[in-house]
Amino acid sequence: MLEVEFCNVKMKNPTMLAAGIMGNTSSSLNWAAKSGAGAVITKSFSQKPNKGYPNPTTLEVNGGIINAIGLSNPGVEAVCMELEKIQPEIPKIASIYGASPVEFSAVAAKVEPLVDMIELNVSCPHAKEGCGASIGQDPQLTYQVVKAVKKTVNIPVIAKLTPNVTDIVEIALSAEKAKCDGLTLINSVGPGMCIDIKTARPILSNKFGGISGPSIKPIAVKNVFEVYEAVKVPLIGVGGIMNYKDAVEFFYAGAKCIQIGTAVMFKGMSVFNNVCKGLKKFMQNNDIESIEEIVGKAHD
Ligand SMILES: Cc1cc2nc3c(=O)[nH]c(=O)nc-3n(C[C@H](O)[C@H](O)[C@H](O)COP(=O)(O)O)c2cc1C
Repeated sequence: MLEVEFCNVKMKNPTMLAAGIMGNTSSSLNWAAKSGAGAVITKSFSQKPNKGYPNPTTLEVNGGIINAIGLSNPGVEAVCMELEKIQPEIPKIASIYGASPVEFSAVAAKVEPLVDMIELNVSCPHAKEGCGASIGQDPQLTYQVVKAVKKTVNIPVIAKLTPNVTDIVEIALSAEKAKCDGLTLINSVGPGMCIDIKTARPILSNKFGGISGPSIKPIAVKNVFEVYEAVKVPLIGVGGIMNYKDAVEFFYAGAKCIQIGTAVMFKGMSVFNNVCKGLKKFMQNNDIESIEEIVGKAHD
């Protein structure tokens, strides 16, 4: 009853471990798989290793988490060695990033044989020097990155969009025009910041960070709802999902699958089973046979 197919990839349930929450070691991704996730997503990785920002990088705030990890990762070669050790039954999604369409394509080509799908983290900064904005804030650049990766690989390519734009529909349409197979909405919100009142200094080493967790859920649901009306490709919803009721909201808004991030940090890996159990009961009580029946119901 919970089974779904996303871009022809079969999943035993619609939950996915969100990118970046459990790193990219095989032990942590296998742990999420064993704990009931329907699919696992790596932390975003690039062609070359990246140290990221110094600590502190993550901080709990009211209603969630603020983080500025700086996309730290050991590089595509090292991540590939870990992906080889993940249990074969679980669908695997590589979250990749780069500074240009060429870099994205090079990483995608290397990881393609080891995963079922690729998620493009286009929330990384523009390649152009001195430009602080992210690729996903620019419809043209988003188009170019998706197009380049689609030309390179034969597995489904999902673009993960940032909500930190004036009009997310414009970016979603650009990604769809470049023939992405699906969209993930949303990456963290902000950036925001916290100041230590004892020292009068910003707490995160990067000063600013992305906000995630329950406080961003209404923004994420709104973005899924809006994009669902504009595109034909399937959507994955993410942002503040803590329990099955949150997941149902995302399905009603138009998501076919959901990702869980901050809730894993707050509630542990049992969150996957708990969301699935709650969903199953909700579906039984409401005579719903498959998730697909309720996707986009808020638009009826
Ligand atoms: C500590 C942390 C690290 C993250 N790292 C990544 C990442 O590497 N790539 C990415 O696309 N998103 C990353 N995200 C964003 C999440 O995947 C997700 O889009 C966001 O947190 C909203 O979902 P949530 O409220 O369920 O956490 C990260 C989030 C957190 C909290």
